[in-house]
Amino acid sequence: MDMSENHRHDPYAFMGVPQLGIRNYWYPALASWRLGRRPKAVKMLGEDIVLFRDDKKIYALQDRCAHRGAKLSRGKCLYPGSGTLSCPYHGWTYKGETGKVIAKLVEGPDAPIPDKARVKTYPVREFRGAIWVFIGDMAAVPLEDDLPECIAKPDEWHMIWNWRTYKCDWRLLSDNLSHDQHAPFVHRNSPEMLLKPIFPHATRNATEPLDNGKGIGHRAYDGVTSAEYPDLGRFPPKQEWYRLLKATGRAVEMDPVNAPAVKKYGIRFRHMSMLPAIHLIGRPSGDFFTCRWILPIDQSTTILYNFNLFRRRGKLGFISDWMDWIIWKSWAHDWLFSDQDKWIVEHVTPGPELLSRTDISVTAWRRFSMANARQPPATNPVVFAPRAATAK
Ligand code: FES
Ligand SMILES: [Fe+2]
Repeated sequence: MDMSENHRHDPYAFMGVPQLGIRNYWYPALASWRLGRRPKAVKMLGEDIVLFRDDKKIYALQDRCAHRGAKLSRGKCLYPGSGTLSCPYHGWTYKGETGKVIAKLVEGPDAPIPDKARVKTYPVREFRGAIWVFIGDMAAVPLEDDLPECIAKPDEWHMIWNWRTYKCDWRLLSDNLSHDQHAPFVHRNSPEMLLKPIFPHATRNATEPLDNGKGIGHRAYDGVTSAEYPDLGRFPPKQEWYRLLKATGRAVEMDPVNAPAVKKYGIRFRHMSMLPAIHLIGRPSGDFFTCRWILPIDQSTTILYNFNLFRRRGKLGFISDWMDWIIWKSWAHDWLFSDQDKWIVEHVTPGPELLSRTDISVTAWRRFSMANARQPPATNPVVFAPRAATAK
């Protein structure tokens, strides 16, 4: 199979979207409370990493001992306060800060330690109850550079979050969240949408770059709540008398000029996709976002972090947001709504696609992310010396 043939069968390869995720970004790695006294193994973008905590500091190292490959995550911090982790096999002891071996506990203090006795270190930060790790091939940028504003500003937004594991390639999940207009169809009978008119379907969509250069905004316009199809009849097929409520919440596309989100806060889009794999779905009020942050684990496992962000509005607002989440959003959205996607996405067979009108957002996002993903500074630029002209 030649390259063009291969590309025809793999649209991601054609667009250059990498199978193990977009490198050189911060990603959420673990909820802080899950890292106790014992080291913890995590896998991110195909890399095995051990996280450990010592003296209130967190370290992240490659989870493979340089000696004979044991998992450092099975080891222990034998010298609390030293910021070190000892391998469970022969006691090579690594400094968390540098990744260097500083002692070989079964060989004695006089054992030679070559410079090569080290493992990779990862930039790591604890912020908002999560541990964040920078995965890439360059010096880390500040964490705040990669966080959407609603996560970066805890004094303006409070956050309730959880995560789900998907048995699928991260790219399928990212496409699912790129506003491909499946919602009125897939989720039409979810608790959130069951009693409302089917969110205008047959909409057209458009995308525009965000002002901050980090992503694109999606817009849907026009659309109908029912339509006649030749030879079939009407969609939805049955008279669904129970759809009596007004369309609200996620079922309303926002007015691009008059929505409070635009007027009060300058938020131009209800639905945005940002690098590396973040999809923000808000409300016309501008006071709530569900921020869905995709963490690729390996070729067939992906974690979806689901950050619910509420604009702070006093103590009572805080309590009512929590109540709203406990009584409603936690199960109606974070669980059931997400599971409707999961049920489909985990069983998509990747391969050739026949794209159509509603896929504009998906292709726009693939294209934007590949054209704008952060690149490490070139280390070995290849210089082609011009050939000297030869006289004939
Ligand atoms: S494998 Fe880690 S010390 Fe031997
Ligand atoms: Fe969905």
